[in-house]
Amino acid sequence: MDKSSRPHIYLDYSATTPIAPPVVEAMQPFFSETFGNAASAHEYGRNAAAALDEAHTVVGCAIGARGSEIVFTGCGTESDNLALRGAALAARRSGRGNHIISSPVEHHAVEATVEQLHELYGFDVTMLPVDGCGRVDPDDVKRAIRPDTTLVSVMLGNNEIGSIEPVGAIGRICRERNIIFHCDAVQAPAYMPVDVDVLNVDLLALSSHKFYGPKGSGVLYIRDGTPYIPALTGGGHERGRRPGTVNVASAVGTAAAIKYVSAQRDEQAARLRGLRDRLFEGVLANVPNARISGHSTDRMPHHASFVFKDIDGETLLMALDVEGIAVSTGSACTSGNPEPSPVLLAMGVPREWALGGLRITLGYHTTSEDIDAVIDALPRCVQQVRAAAAELPGS
Ligand SMILES: Cc1ncc(COP(=O)(O)O)c(C=O)c1O
Repeated sequence: MDKSSRPHIYLDYSATTPIAPPVVEAMQPFFSETFGNAASAHEYGRNAAAALDEAHTVVGCAIGARGSEIVFTGCGTESDNLALRGAALAARRSGRGNHIISSPVEHHAVEATVEQLHELYGFDVTMLPVDGCGRVDPDDVKRAIRPDTTLVSVMLGNNEIGSIEPVGAIGRICRERNIIFHCDAVQAPAYMPVDVDVLNVDLLALSSHKFYGPKGSGVLYIRDGTPYIPALTGGGHERGRRPGTVNVASAVGTAAAIKYVSAQRDEQAARLRGLRDRLFEGVLANVPNARISGHSTDRMPHHASFVFKDIDGETLLMALDVEGIAVSTGSACTSGNPEPSPVLLAMGVPREWALGGLRITLGYHTTSEDIDAVIDALPRCVQQVRAAAAELPGS
């Protein structure tokens, strides 16, 4: 392809989104005239604190919570870490128990934290089974609960395979048994409603850069009364739940971003679902040995993911990049030794398919022409990559 005519098509919105212009505008004054430390007592501090207060309220309102239940953090990963460590340790300190339940399809931010709670802090962990679409059965949660279970963590929309977990039902089970329920909802807010009471969650993590807000900015919802020990220690910022001078510009940006997505979520979700379904049809009709990974309908509307048999997902990603199309793969490739995605393996996807995972995530700027371009390029790229692999010695 002639380099000058190479398109620039971004289809990796689950990795990150561009900041929306109203968000940049809302943040701007907090880099200059309103620069005060929100913890300072003087006028500069009070102005910053007033903006921060308002940001708490706006974010709380958007997810059905009170402003006082919102904590601004440094990213989604931090929110997950604070939530899980904070709740597990607090519940143990009060003698409630030592057992955590989670799923094998969680993001590393949850998976590695639960693993550390087990390895370093001696918590017992039960991993739930998932079905072929990566979904947890609430009945399996019921079966896994023990008298000493204190914490359950299951995500809302899966970053890799798009499936939506039955979070509301799992939350109800936890509530009936007085077990703390944490949900990583990082992928959701731009594409589906997030309401802490509908979801029955006690702790919930969000990340602003996934919904057209700034990077390095997260939200942790902590329901009033939830046992919690702050994993960070220091001053009394964020009501002592996340010490450290608050990044007011980021908090204001997060509030502006959640307003921005709330205003157009339903309309965008319907539009993106239509484009995404056309992408599914186009790819499945034109690429041999291709399957959808995750649920085909009960999934986030912007999210398409596939597995291709006998192909390396990373090589396919690079072939698409040459065509000017930016997507991602679920499998982590370490120095030329590709390992299949643990999420796909947990779903029972055979290794020869699991190595060929590809994620195409649409966003508010995605057009019908972008989808046409993928439907045109992907069959060609798959064929190239398979042909190149067939020529390798030993293949
Ligand atoms: C489901 C999920 N949880 C947590 C994170 C981490 O968010 P952050 O990049 O803000 O640390 C991500 C990021 O990809 C994610 O997809």
